[in-house]
Amino acid sequence: MKLPELKIANFTAKVPIIQGGMAIRISTGELAGAVAAAGGIGVIGASGMTFEELASEIRLARAKAKGGIIGINIMFAAREFWGIVKTAIKEKIDLVFVGAGFSRDIFKVGQENNTPIVPIVSSARLAKTSDKLGAAAIVVEGTEAGGHLGTDRSIKEILPEVRRATSLPVVAAGGITNGQDIVDLLKLGANGVQIATRFVLSTECNAALPYKKRYQEATQDDVVKISSPVGLPGRALKTAFVEKLLRKDAPQPIGCDFCLKNCSLEYCIIQALINSQHGDIDNGIVFSGANVWKIKDRSIKPAAEIIKELVKEAEEVTA
Ligand SMILES: Cc1cc2nc3c(=O)[nH]c(=O)nc-3n(C[C@H](O)[C@H](O)[C@H](O)COP(=O)(O)O)c2cc1C
Repeated sequence: MKLPELKIANFTAKVPIIQGGMAIRISTGELAGAVAAAGGIGVIGASGMTFEELASEIRLARAKAKGGIIGINIMFAAREFWGIVKTAIKEKIDLVFVGAGFSRDIFKVGQENNTPIVPIVSSARLAKTSDKLGAAAIVVEGTEAGGHLGTDRSIKEILPEVRRATSLPVVAAGGITNGQDIVDLLKLGANGVQIATRFVLSTECNAALPYKKRYQEATQDDVVKISSPVGLPGRALKTAFVEKLLRKDAPQPIGCDFCLKNCSLEYCIIQALINSQHGDIDNGIVFSGANVWKIKDRSIKPAAEIIKELVKEAEEVTA
């Protein structure tokens, strides 16, 4: 069976796959553009970018997208949240995804500028609130996701509750590694899926090679939960730095620029994410979804091939 298209506001993605935004330059214009060109929705992780950088990444993504759909993802926890949103709107971004926290005001700004807003939530309660406030769609993320986590419940538990709570398009996220996972979530009521971890092993992902190698070698035991100074738990792979965090022995931040609205200052998560993105994973955090070790083929290949494989697997399951 052919996978359904994913409709969000006036946009229709031929392939119902959103590439999840990955902050601190892991998903930039290159990856977002490639995913959009392949029929999915490509998302630039805007948290940590300067406004000029974001504008230039959006233009790059557009140039690569062949008319496909491009979004940005911004963490509500970021101090520059509104500046990033305004920059993206000025660049005529198609969709704005908001993760790591919940903003009520963003929906009004979206409506005023005719920009669809898609919140990332982990409960039926917040899905319902988002629907009332004017969301264009809902991404519901389970505990299997990478990065900051809003729940310790599985996506398969939360998704049916969210499906009952709203008639908006619902996109399921967390732990998807193959076509069977996609089909399972569509059967539970999702209109599409959001996938991030699988796309780290793409040619276009902007992480340095040691980061991708960590993904290639990861076993189930390497996936851990850490505490983030943002005030949420985060999911990451073991590195020397992460081991220090787990022992509560993290280095104190040096030269803080107060980039987060609320930060415990326990350690600098942004510096740790920058280090790993540059390839210094011993001094960094490598965010990852819970099921990285289940990815069968962990070679690095173009995002378009990853999408083609996922679609083929899903269609074979439903044949
Ligand atoms: C490396 C990495 C960075 C991420 N950064 C962000 C982010 O900046 N904002 C956000 O809302 N979600 C972020 N996420 C979550 C993803 O967008 C996505 O919803 C989730 O990881 C889906 O689960 P999967 O990785 O198992 O496919 C990140 C995930 C990873 C793996």
